[in-house]
Amino acid sequence: MKPRWSRPIVILHWISAIAIVGMFASGLWMVDLTYYSDWYKTAPHWHKSVGLILLAITVIRLVTRVVTSRPPSHGTPLEKRLSRIGHGLLYTLIIMLFASGYLISTADGRSIDVFNWFSVPAMGEFFENQEDIAGKAHFYIAWSVIVLAIIHALAALKHHFIRNDDTLKQMLRLR
Ligand code: HEM
Ligand code: HEM
Repeated sequence: MKPRWSRPIVILHWISAIAIVGMFASGLWMVDLTYYSDWYKTAPHWHKSVGLILLAITVIRLVTRVVTSRPPSHGTPLEKRLSRIGHGLLYTLIIMLFASGYLISTADGRSIDVFNWFSVPAMGEFFENQEDIAGKAHFYIAWSVIVLAIIHALAALKHHFIRNDDTLKQMLRLR
């Protein structure tokens, strides 16, 4: 049988894509909430909880990726190289988002309660102005992920509609 993406990889890819777009929108929205909003505390609680679940999903995804097959990629050698770099960059930036998010949230020594289900302990402040610096980094990294993801989605659509190859179908597990 031809190698293809395993079902868990496909499910985790689409869950992550939806979650990341949702996290981006909720992040931008929640930083402008005032103390008088009902969401003032709830929105960051959800943002952090979903973020840490997404971290677990990403770790599972990376491990699954190593032990399962992948379909052959299409395109010129340059395109294949760019796509490998792009995917590597997406994973790297997403992990940097988790790290910076953790550093913002725990700078004041408070742990992160994931849906009041379990709590991830704080390690305190590693450097001065940690909350501000990590906050700025988080903001720019989040934008970079979204811009790269848009280019990534356009590349997938180009494969499908212009090149007429099965790159996108493979990620949807369509025949
Ligand atoms: C472990 C995971 C994460 C944690 C703990 C976390 C935590 C936080 C916190 C505490 C803030 C508020 C910052 C402030 O008050 O200035 C924030 C903002 C934000 N987060 Fe996250 N986050 C995580 C993952 C993500 C992910 C995956 C995205 C997806 C793109 C994201 C996008 C954003 C955005 C766009 C903002 C608004 C930044 C701003 O306008 O200053 N976060 N996050
Ligand atoms: C925030 C949104 C997204 C993120 C972060 C993301 C991330 C990724 C990553 C990291 C890979 C590499 C998989 C690996 O080699 O382990 C991948 C593969 C793929 N993604 Fe996305 N993705 C997103 C949205 C989308 C969308 C909207 C589409 C379709 C329009 C799409 C189509 C694909 C396809 C077809 C592949 C397989 C590429 C190949 O065979 O080389 N992705 N995605």
